[in-house]
Amino acid sequence: MNDKYIKLGINIDHLAFIKKSRNTDYPDLLEAVDIAEKAGADQITIHLREDRRHIQDIDVKKIRSKAKILNLEIALTEEMVSIALENQPNSCCLVPEKREEVTTEGGLDLQGMTTSKINFLKKTINKFKENNIKTSIFIDPDIQQIEKAIECNAKIIELHTGTYANSINPADELMKLNEVACFASNKGLCVNAGHGLNIKNVRSICDIQAIEELNIGHAIIARSVFIGLKDAIKEMISIIRE
Ligand code: PXP
Repeated sequence: MNDKYIKLGINIDHLAFIKKSRNTDYPDLLEAVDIAEKAGADQITIHLREDRRHIQDIDVKKIRSKAKILNLEIALTEEMVSIALENQPNSCCLVPEKREEVTTEGGLDLQGMTTSKINFLKKTINKFKENNIKTSIFIDPDIQQIEKAIECNAKIIELHTGTYANSINPADELMKLNEVACFASNKGLCVNAGHGLNIKNVRSICDIQAIEELNIGHAIIARSVFIGLKDAIKEMISIIRE
């Protein structure tokens, strides 16, 4: 069992999906922020995608002014970096984006990045630091990716747990996540994790001592249909802090 407090970020993109699907003014994302914070969420996480398929630019502004702690997920592009600087979230998680994907399908491939993209990444981390925005890099559990993240001066990583979550034999993936999280933490990085986590598979992730924060969306929003958002968040928190 982990005796350290693991923080929970609630990703509300899927509520924005419902809103966008009919262009309605409900569900109210600000009400969701309020409920999430009162239920004990440590931060609100939103992803402004380049295709604006769920969260909109105006949502970022409104949520920024409401949320106590905002984590903004963005692709590593000039446009998104400038939107982040304008809105001043507490942290920014840099994620890969493909137009045709259903959701973020993997981590940023730092190893495969061109030199100019790596330079842009380094510049972005510095720029965010000057603006008191923490940068986290969403990467697959891979030692080489961690080494490259350190080379880019990253201080925080978020490990992609999607492969673990979707695996029919998750033990191997769990071992890999544990190994890589330990490696990163020993190198001085703050290690977060997320993607595909739910009330069944989150327990084993919480046993990884190095993990400091989880960002969870889809499963909590899905569960809230039956038990309400407040209780869905409380349920997840009680499992994480068990
Ligand atoms: N962390 C990151 C970086 C993500 O891109 C996502 C999905 O938007 C999540 C966490 C949350 O994933 P899920 O919705 O599967 O819980």
